[in-house]
Amino acid sequence: MQHTVNKTPSESSVEMTELVLPNDTNQLGNLLGGRLMHWIDIAAALVAMRHSGRVCVTASVDEINFFEPIKIGHVVTLQAMVNRAFTTSMEIGVRAWREDPLNNSRIQTSKAYLTFVAIDNYGKPLPVPQLSPVTENEKRRYEEAALRREQRLKHRELLQTMRLGEQAS
Ligand SMILES: CC(C)(COP(=O)(O)OP(=O)(O)OC[C@H]1O[C@@H](n2cnc3c(N)ncnc32)[C@H](O)[C@@H]1OP(=O)(O)O)[C@@H](O)C(=O)NCCC(=O)NCCS
Repeated sequence: MQHTVNKTPSESSVEMTELVLPNDTNQLGNLLGGRLMHWIDIAAALVAMRHSGRVCVTASVDEINFFEPIKIGHVVTLQAMVNRAFTTSMEIGVRAWREDPLNNSRIQTSKAYLTFVAIDNYGKPLPVPQLSPVTENEKRRYEEAALRREQRLKHRELLQTMRLGEQAS
């Protein structure tokens, strides 16, 4: 069943804030990458569920970058939104910002793209509403998400072909 009402990115976007505590860090007092990935996954899952109105699962995390370290005592803000909805899947983009609350400095530390799929009670994929980007940035992200999906599918197909070739030889 195809949804007839499109949704805008801002209808499901999420901003999430976390304080980096000792249990989140390594011996140098830097935030663990795995903890940040967990927060990114949660923020993206909230967006996917808001957009689709369904339970959603992480299908893949295609790209995740850590540009700068984040220290104990910093505040991490995650901004997440749907870049594009396909049939049952959605690409969610997440950006993370580090803020030192003692001097108000704020810089972007991470960027990630995740694919979520809406599912029913049996784990079967379900159609999601299409996305109508409004702002210039949303339109750019919408176009770029299609390119990333194309690359992702081509990459998967190429690997499958290579493996089949290896098995046959
Ligand atoms: C994601 C999942 C629901 C896909 O189910 P499936 O039966 O393979 O579904 P399909 O092949 O029909 O694909 C459904 C959609 O998922 C997308 N998809 C499937 N695997 C994908 C992957 N690895 N990366 C990106 N997208 C993927 C397909 O492109 C398709 O998108 P579309 O409908 O928008 O075109 C299934 O693989 C699953 O449940 N995985 C485990 C998810 C999970 O538990 N995540 C948490 C990790 S602990």
